[in-house]
Amino acid sequence: MTHPQHRSTWSSRWAFMLATAGSAIGLGNIWKLPYMIGVNGGSAFVLVFLACIFLVGIPLMMCETMLGRRAQRNPVDGMQALAQEAGTSKAWRWVGISGLFAGLLILGFYSIIAGWVLDYIVRAAGGEFTGIDGAGATAKFETFLGQPLRLLLWHSLFIAMTLGVVSRGVNAGLEKANNILIPALFAILLVLVGYSMAVGDFARSVVFMFTPDFSRITPVAILSALGHAFFSLSLGMGAVMVYGSYLQRHVSITRATMIIAVADTSVGLLVGLAIFALVFANHLEPAAGPGLIFQTLPIAFGSMPWGDVIGTLFFLLVAFAAWTSAISLVEPAVAWLTENTRLTRKQSALLIGVGDWLLGIAVLLSFNAWQDVRLVFGLGIFDTLDKLTSTIMLPLGGLAMALFAGYFMKTRQVQEELGLGPSGYGFWRFLVRYVAPVAIVAVFLYLLGIIQG
Ligand code: TRP
Repeated sequence: MTHPQHRSTWSSRWAFMLATAGSAIGLGNIWKLPYMIGVNGGSAFVLVFLACIFLVGIPLMMCETMLGRRAQRNPVDGMQALAQEAGTSKAWRWVGISGLFAGLLILGFYSIIAGWVLDYIVRAAGGEFTGIDGAGATAKFETFLGQPLRLLLWHSLFIAMTLGVVSRGVNAGLEKANNILIPALFAILLVLVGYSMAVGDFARSVVFMFTPDFSRITPVAILSALGHAFFSLSLGMGAVMVYGSYLQRHVSITRATMIIAVADTSVGLLVGLAIFALVFANHLEPAAGPGLIFQTLPIAFGSMPWGDVIGTLFFLLVAFAAWTSAISLVEPAVAWLTENTRLTRKQSALLIGVGDWLLGIAVLLSFNAWQDVRLVFGLGIFDTLDKLTSTIMLPLGGLAMALFAGYFMKTRQVQEELGLGPSGYGFWRFLVRYVAPVAIVAVFLYLLGIIQG
């Protein structure tokens, strides 16, 4: 395949791994995984989640990285070039197109939640949670959601932070931001875990998360764990593909993706351990749902020694995680614009930023002025975007990539990128051809059921 000239590449294997880990580690790990573990009965869910990461997540992440590196293009032109190389229909470019839009739609609501996080950094630092009780924390959160201008301020800031990084390009933007933010994130994580071991009920948290209770492994737990494994590793929309397209040829995709997946999963589990240790020490409910970090945790911070400092650090950690993920949500679209139009990277980033800023305004109004607006299946604006992307567009995108790599690409083409031994390749191919598609279709059908139900 001929490759476009003058394309940026990561300056090292580390840069790729930090950036992709930055994409993967996000609100999904810190905000969603802990509350899903809480709601689905702890350890049972953790075990299934781990199995999903290894059997479906890692093979698909290898697949997406491999597609990107082979194509050396943005996901739209990349899928088209790969399809031509494999001698099949150009229509595969639609996988890239849909992924590109999925990223923009996800950022529309991701930015709003990230905005809440920024607001909570300031609140924690200002000591607002000191002595707060359950009713107080809930009232605070609900009052906040009723203030569109305050939400708008944070949303605008987050969009500016995200596109500001992307507009600087692969090396001076993406790479540099991740090189700073991801190590900082790990440093804060260590402090948080250390603190929760010292002050929280860590033993109970470990028991809650890791004592196997097979009776609680239900079909619902399995399917939601699989869906989340997918979202958590940023799969199915081309984010990993575009990051893979900047990866140098000599780097081992298998090794890099395994390290990234393990890092992503470990961060989710460590944050979960720390959060539940604090929750249990304060006799709070682990199964609080989406309000876990905004309503339950502040109560814990408000009553513990050094609670302001730790609370501030915690929300800072969440903000860093959200920021590095958001960058990867828009990179496919910005790369496509710069590679296909006369717009410079800065102009492309500005255009996408304005678009996502407007979309986000609709989302933030759905928490107050437009609370009663219903789009499809009786869902509000926020839920529509969330469900449309994470339950339809991402699984379909991942399914398409798995089928393409598993059935349409030639072994030689795949192996030039993956370079696996014969049995390793056979195993990978089995997972990508059969296990992942069956699993994705199962989740897909199940989640569609939920939308109707
Ligand atoms: N993985 C991120 C999280 O856990 C979210 C995310 C970033 C994402 N980029 C993505 C999800 C691309 C799906 C596809 O929060």
